[in-house]
Amino acid sequence: MTDSSQNDGTSKRSQFLLEHVDIEINHRCNLLCKHCSARAVRAKAGVDELSVDDLKKILHSAASLGLRNVGLTGGEPLMDKEKLENIARFCLDDLGVPVHTHSNGTLVTVEMCKQGGVLSLFESVSVTFLGGNAESHDSITQVKGSFKRSFEGARIIADAGLPLTCYFIPTNQTCHEFKALAAELHNVGVRRIRAMALAPSGRARTIYDKTIPDIDEMRVFEKDLLQIGAELSIQIEAGNCTRMSMPGLSILAGHERCMSGLNRVHINSRGDVFPCTAASGVSELMLGNLRDSAFDLKEIWFASPLVRNIRALQRKILDGCNECSRIKKCYDTCMVNVIGTMNSAELKACALFR
Ligand SMILES: C[S@@+](CC[C@H](N)C(=O)[O-])C[C@H]1O[C@@H](n2cnc3c(N)ncnc32)[C@H](O)[C@@H]1O
Repeated sequence: MTDSSQNDGTSKRSQFLLEHVDIEINHRCNLLCKHCSARAVRAKAGVDELSVDDLKKILHSAASLGLRNVGLTGGEPLMDKEKLENIARFCLDDLGVPVHTHSNGTLVTVEMCKQGGVLSLFESVSVTFLGGNAESHDSITQVKGSFKRSFEGARIIADAGLPLTCYFIPTNQTCHEFKALAAELHNVGVRRIRAMALAPSGRARTIYDKTIPDIDEMRVFEKDLLQIGAELSIQIEAGNCTRMSMPGLSILAGHERCMSGLNRVHINSRGDVFPCTAASGVSELMLGNLRDSAFDLKEIWFASPLVRNIRALQRKILDGCNECSRIKKCYDTCMVNVIGTMNSAELKACALFR
């Protein structure tokens, strides 16, 4: 049976369909976000980045495992527009798989949004906001003027009628700012917002405790978004991990439960594979590197000891979990959150890594 409903960790090896691959096409970014899971940098493309050929081989191997959806991310994908377009066309024309992309919006042009332009290839494009105003957003991106350019990017995409979702990632002290931003974005044609929760990954890991909003701030964020969404008919949604802290938000289709390692992987610009995007940037959760397997995902997807343990954890049958004080948090919230906030002694003892 190849029905994706079987992808729940209870079925046989052949029934783990790798339906969703997010892949970083580059490591370069024109911003330097303090929380960046990818630890993207402003430097020129490094030799370390996967080439177009490498990316095609990886996606080709994913196609034989059940691929249905590809997310092209980075770095900032629009810094390598030709590479982005090349890979998007490969997915669409050679693999017959739809693509979406994540951008900071700052490099978007009208040309890119015209029919046949690079952004017209995607079934969804996201632009991220890290604060409700220029001061907060630019303080996280560490680039003055980035809020203004991201806003303009979102406006251009919305104006072109392309399927845009604005991502909101609140940090402490910024939760109350997003209601006004949602209204401003609505004024320029934005109709869809996704709330995201900060993950303790990449550069965010060391600042997580100081940066994560407290529960009261999150309630304000959630309440404000629900209110403005209803008032202005903006679709507001969230994935499974985000809804753990903001349960009132509607669930994003395909994100009804945690699917980490069950139907998806995230691949960084160097070919390291992680069980989901939230896990990318948590080195302990790396399943393997694709350079070691000639860019073929099969071995990692079926044989990585860690992915097997993650699937056992998802089914609550991983040996050793019963003795752990974090068991409830791991079962009831997000594995990435638990692993990303463990100290080295806890990591050493964790059943996932045995
Ligand atoms: C890594 S960026 C790369 C693509 C592009 N430059 C962008 O800004 O969307 C992809 C998305 O992941 C989000 N992100 C990065 N690090 C994160 C973290 N530690 N927790 C939650 N989201 C994170 C970004 O804010 C952005 O929305």
